[in-house]
Amino acid sequence: MSDYVKIVEVGPRDGLQNEKQALSIEQRLSFINDLIDAGLKSIEVGSCVSAKWVPQMAQSDELFKLLPQRNDLNLSLLTPNLKGFEAAQAVGCKEVAVFTAASESFTRKNINCSIDESLERFSEIFQAAQANNVRVRGYVSCIVDCPYEGAIDPKQVVNVVKRLHDMGCYEISLGETIGTATPDRVQKVWQACLAELDSKILAGHFHNTYGMAIANIYQSLQQGIRVFDSSLAGLGGCPYAKGSSGNVATEDLYYLLSHIGYETGINLEKLMLASQNINQILNRKNLSNYANTYLQQSCA
Ligand code: HMG
Ligand code: MG
Repeated sequence: MSDYVKIVEVGPRDGLQNEKQALSIEQRLSFINDLIDAGLKSIEVGSCVSAKWVPQMAQSDELFKLLPQRNDLNLSLLTPNLKGFEAAQAVGCKEVAVFTAASESFTRKNINCSIDESLERFSEIFQAAQANNVRVRGYVSCIVDCPYEGAIDPKQVVNVVKRLHDMGCYEISLGETIGTATPDRVQKVWQACLAELDSKILAGHFHNTYGMAIANIYQSLQQGIRVFDSSLAGLGGCPYAKGSSGNVATEDLYYLLSHIGYETGINLEKLMLASQNINQILNRKNLSNYANTYLQQSCA
């Protein structure tokens, strides 16, 4: 049996949060349903953050209510504080994600507090989550470079990851937020983390600004990482990291994994249909090299 890699689709959150055009609830719902049809089981469907800060994610709780409730699906919401957690909990969400960074300046720009303060805010979330049987995933941004501080020491990454794990995160996604890293630097971060933590609780989250995301994922696979975040059609970016482009495209990640012998549970034709649909809705160019070639060939 081939090895399984879990893909966490973050297009409806990380992707859409950075698109100029804010989609309607119906459009977001149709996008998520397409992803589910394509076989994606873990999907971050939105975020319960301030709509003044990120208008594209407004009413993510209302959207959640319209999604299918299936035991085989893991549909999560990003929550920065107890207010966000309560909104997610009120609509029956069983997994939330908290987010901080390995860089003080990025944390300040992104969530208006220090790293320590962000973790204090999360302690309320962890308490409420434990009481209500809700899983908490963690994100640590800027694991290699920060747009404000430059290179980040891997020790600082390990420190924040360990604190999130000790607080109760079942999985922590390490975000290469601005897409400047090369595989040698990614390897150093994983080696520092794996000296103290089990690979099973770690995930990779790579943005593709300089086209390095797939190379960085290949490096991460060599280090034993088996969970990766990706975004259909390479949507998005981060509103607080100017110039950084979207996540690695789910289609390109699928291409890599399926050709080197990993199982993902994805249906290729339906993935391509989902890809085509979201690009039509947004009237944008597809940033997946694989999807572009596949769709051109299937039209020829
Ligand atoms: P603040 O201004 O410091 O907080 O924002 P506040 O407590 O003073 O509240 C200000 C206003 O926001 C108040 O409303 C609150 O009620 C409201 P007002 O009185 O002005 O009308 N508010 C909320 N509204 C809705 N939901 C909430 C909430 N909390 C407060 N949960 C806050 C602090 C965290 C809210 C703000 O900074 C925020 O929403 N930031 C958005 C951060 C964000 O979404 N960033 C992008 C996601 S992270 C990312 O992309 C990186 C990642 O992909 C990994 C990677 O790539 O590295 C994860
Ligand atoms: Mg991101």
